[in-house]
Amino acid sequence: MKSSRKVGIIGAGHVGAHVAAMLASQGICGQIALLDTDRNKALAQSQDIADGMAYWPRPVQIWAGNYGDLADADIVVIAACGAAIEQNRLDELAATVAVLDQIVPQLKNSGFQGVVVSISNPCDVVAQYLRRALGLTVIGTGTALDSARLSRRLASLLGVAPQSVSAYMLGEHGDSQVPAFSAASVAGQPLSQWMAEHPGRCTTEDLARIARETMEAGWNIVLGKGSTEFGVASAAAALIRAILLDEKRVLPCSVLLEGQYGQRDVYASSPCLVGAGGAEEIWQLPLNDQEAQAMAESCQIIREYGAKAAALSTLAGRQ
Ligand code: 2OP
Repeated sequence: MKSSRKVGIIGAGHVGAHVAAMLASQGICGQIALLDTDRNKALAQSQDIADGMAYWPRPVQIWAGNYGDLADADIVVIAACGAAIEQNRLDELAATVAVLDQIVPQLKNSGFQGVVVSISNPCDVVAQYLRRALGLTVIGTGTALDSARLSRRLASLLGVAPQSVSAYMLGEHGDSQVPAFSAASVAGQPLSQWMAEHPGRCTTEDLARIARETMEAGWNIVLGKGSTEFGVASAAAALIRAILLDEKRVLPCSVLLEGQYGQRDVYASSPCLVGAGGAEEIWQLPLNDQEAQAMAESCQIIREYGAKAAALSTLAGRQ
């Protein structure tokens, strides 16, 4: 386990602040530096979060920090973005790249050498951009959130707790995400077998519906309240905990694929073994032909937007 357990969070808006609050209230780290271009906001968020300290499992230092604070951080979370969310996360690309172009040189100059956990959308494209620009280990939260959304819906359909199902969304944290139902299981039993043994309880139409609801979930929440924050903060906190505590927990996240699913040089989500080194292994799920085709298409979309990110960036030659 890392001894200092220091996390820097760049972007103290809805998502960054909720990640900080979850890390603190769950006792996952010992120090949190919150950075934002609006320093007063970072200060107010850090003070608001610190006000709960009497109820946390252990004391956590949290403050409005600067890039100098990141030099010895174990993890830096990227939660900054440039625009209000629109209907497709990929539409956020230009504004987010403009913000990242400000962050990258400062993060490089800080001397930070730890693991980057990137949340900003479009998540896979941003993670890929950061990996190329920083040359550090970068993990995108990717479909950690979508997989949790899918697991919750599948579990409800089957009448079990979400912890009793294993169901992954793969590929893009976006509209092209791929539900890997053929590899899903319920307490060790393949989902297909459970369905055969419980006729009418969970049909292929039900699966198509919950996959669509999962894909649309973020947008429906945004329509209702202007942002999403709690779900993704839970997913990010689980990833950060797995790294800081070297848990070797298998979690879905966005990583640079190295031949898995027949894909290379593209960030996309797959279950990964997460420990002190970040995503230490990528675990390839066995997919049926339809899922494999959808995964290839999802990766192709990320690739195309990756090229757009490079073209948009002013950090020429580094993304
Ligand atoms: C989410 O899925 C919008 O990416 C954000 O919650």
